[in-house]
Amino acid sequence: SILSINIDKIYGTVSAADVAALKGEMEQGNRMLQDGSGKGSDFLGWVNLPESITSEELKTIRKCADNLASLADVILVIGIGGSYLGAKAVLEALSDPFQLLRNKQEKPIVLFAGQNLSEDYLYELLEGTRSYKIAAIVISKSGTTTEPAVAFRLIKNEIESRYGAEGAAKRIVAITDAARGALRTLATNEGYETFVIPDNIGGRYSVLTPVGLLPLAAAGINVDELVRGARDMEKATGTDVPFEKNPAMIYAAARTALYRAGKKIEILASYDPKLLYVAEWWKQLYGESEGKDGKGIFPASVTLTADLHSMGQYIQQGERTLMETVISVTKPKHKVVIEKDKDNLDGLNFLAGKRISEVNRMAEMGTLLAHFDGGVPNIRIEIPEINEYYIGGLLYFFEKACGISGYALGVNPFDQPGVEAYKKNMFALLGKPGYEEAGEELRKRL
Ligand code: PA5
Repeated sequence: SILSINIDKIYGTVSAADVAALKGEMEQGNRMLQDGSGKGSDFLGWVNLPESITSEELKTIRKCADNLASLADVILVIGIGGSYLGAKAVLEALSDPFQLLRNKQEKPIVLFAGQNLSEDYLYELLEGTRSYKIAAIVISKSGTTTEPAVAFRLIKNEIESRYGAEGAAKRIVAITDAARGALRTLATNEGYETFVIPDNIGGRYSVLTPVGLLPLAAAGINVDELVRGARDMEKATGTDVPFEKNPAMIYAAARTALYRAGKKIEILASYDPKLLYVAEWWKQLYGESEGKDGKGIFPASVTLTADLHSMGQYIQQGERTLMETVISVTKPKHKVVIEKDKDNLDGLNFLAGKRISEVNRMAEMGTLLAHFDGGVPNIRIEIPEINEYYIGGLLYFFEKACGISGYALGVNPFDQPGVEAYKKNMFALLGKPGYEEAGEELRKRL
């Protein structure tokens, strides 16, 4: 199977009967996602997305990606939130972090912009890529988000000044709403190739649309395999799969039971730094979907064993409001064995002949029991290895479980009204036309 889930180590905080009692609620939630009878039903396009992606669509994406790759050494992917984190998560999971040290790149380097408003980040990105051939993929569903729009303005100017307007039109691809928004108008006027983010798929559920697939294909990721993993997970979490065998329902039930028992914070932990941005993506997915109406589990994350030397103290002995979900990877890609040392000055000869992954696995098992003994219930999600297929499955698994959990919480998991508050204030403080009065009020308060 794509992944296995083990909730044995939540028992103690909650019982098996507590989890089993949620079966009906979970089945109902899953049904609501399927038949559109729950809140936010206009945004359920992701539910059957993997199954509905055609090989023709994948071909078009690959073709566009290959074209960009033939024109550029560096592809700048511009977007924020759901228009950024999916591609970033998969890319980090599947890349060799040291590939930049190699002289010859087979595939273009994908770098991200528009996910912050740091002047230095943008300056250094533009300076750093000056001697490389560049292209851009600009992604915004609404087409009006400030951060990517600001970054795109600068990057568009840079590309136009180097290659002219016609050259720029070949090097810029826009991914946005089918008809609405400033980016759609701009792309039409400038003659950019475009891809559509379907109306019924929200940003944080869009990784398997061109939003995630195009940047990933451009970076050389096998998107067909990513989609195949998601497709198999769509089947494995369907309404026809009984609760006991349905990993999304089990995960949703376990975390719901724990939340109701007072565990308000969920820490997603992994033992491979490649998964750091999968956790960032997961935090957006769960935080934005559940955190509303004064409710919701607060999603946090750690990368272990690194954070055992920092956050480990808190997890072991701090406030007992935590639950931990571990993404465990069975098999690494490469083999590194610890050698025997004749002097054994570091005292590590007891590890000689062992693989690093074995040491990591024992760190994981030891931590699991230590945290459990310390009062932190533990959910374990195991994938066989980090590759396109299993990551595709994992992402879809989290999406499905998030929808089910959100319905169990009683919120609309597909809206995000709270993200508007900062925008209004920022526009007012920057003097955007129409916000003059609000701006004056805010300035008085600062
Ligand atoms: O999940 C979401 O809806 C958000 O995180 C959006 O993806 C994010 O705000 C970016 O929006 P847009 O794609 O419209 O620029």
